[in-house]
Amino acid sequence: MDLKSLQQQADLLLQQLKEEPSTIDLHTKYLGKNGLLNELMKLLPTFPAEERRAAGQLLNTLRSTLEESIQQKHSHQQYTEQDLTIPGKKPRFGHVHPVSQAMDEITRIFERIGFMRVRYPEVDWEWYPFDSLNMPKNHPARDEWETFLIKSDYRHPELGRLVLTPHTSNGQVREMQRLKSKPPIRMINIARCYRRQADVTHTEMFHQFEGLVVDKGITIQHLKGTIDHFAQQFYGPKAKSRIRPFHFMFTEPSFEVDFSCTVCNGTGLVHGEKCRFCKSGWHEVGGAGMVHPNVLKAGGIDPEEYTGFAFGWGIERTYTLREGLNLDDIRQLYANDARFLEQF
Ligand code: FA5
Repeated sequence: MDLKSLQQQADLLLQQLKEEPSTIDLHTKYLGKNGLLNELMKLLPTFPAEERRAAGQLLNTLRSTLEESIQQKHSHQQYTEQDLTIPGKKPRFGHVHPVSQAMDEITRIFERIGFMRVRYPEVDWEWYPFDSLNMPKNHPARDEWETFLIKSDYRHPELGRLVLTPHTSNGQVREMQRLKSKPPIRMINIARCYRRQADVTHTEMFHQFEGLVVDKGITIQHLKGTIDHFAQQFYGPKAKSRIRPFHFMFTEPSFEVDFSCTVCNGTGLVHGEKCRFCKSGWHEVGGAGMVHPNVLKAGGIDPEEYTGFAFGWGIERTYTLREGLNLDDIRQLYANDARFLEQF
């Protein structure tokens, strides 16, 4: 046997394979232990030593070509043997996560009354979530935000360390800067926030939506009207809101915002018994207030000329208070259990 005849044998084998019906076990016939390729392999020792290497290479190439052709024949066979009239299998569709659904809905409610959705960094210089909001360095109020710090020795000379934003209020002065300190401002900032907290009503990563309005003549009435409008759009026409005095460094006066319970309609009673969902008729969703003059100044806005209001609420909290949801542990939203999430 010489190289030329070996090449001819290989070509013949490939030709033969092409004409084979694909119903037989081609792999065993051609590549199996007693297959046709091995028959040719057995001839290798009959080659003169100087041609043996080239003959070996030729047979290796033949092996790969055979493997490829057999595979192609199989996939072709699978295709032609299929009954093409059988209806296709429906792919399994997932759906948008409930928190993303809530974000879309909240955005639409505010866009309809002239707010613009914006996004600001979720990893930010500490000046934006703290100093710009009237919370100077080493002020104890900063502790309430239980903030995650980015591990780095680098400090921005004016803006300080990098942190994971603990609230969306970092967007307030950023928005004033984006508009070059020229009101009117009507922003809705929705973003992830992070705090070192985890229990049935707190997760380490959660979402807030922050409203900020700055213009001439803005009062608490505008704030209350906006809160009521949101409550009725999101929870239904019967929903009510109330504001209670509170303290935030960046608003003055400041409030906590409650929405009436959707289970007992704000009465605190179900069939004469204390409502088990709210216990009082109300649920707290977040904070609000009139923008502090120092915050306006940090954003380059003259507090003598302009006033504004701001609010910041948790999306998970706002969403889980919806009628019928009755979620008693918000951590379930992030447990990645499809059986749970499919319900929404
Ligand atoms: C704030 O974060 C203020 N920035 C709100 C604000 C904005 C006040 C503008 C005034 C003007 P607070 O820490 O209370 O406030 O958080 C607001 C809401 O975020 C809470 O009521 C809750 O709904 C939600 N929230 C806070 N921490 C968590 C957490 N760890 N997990 C889930 N939701 C949270």
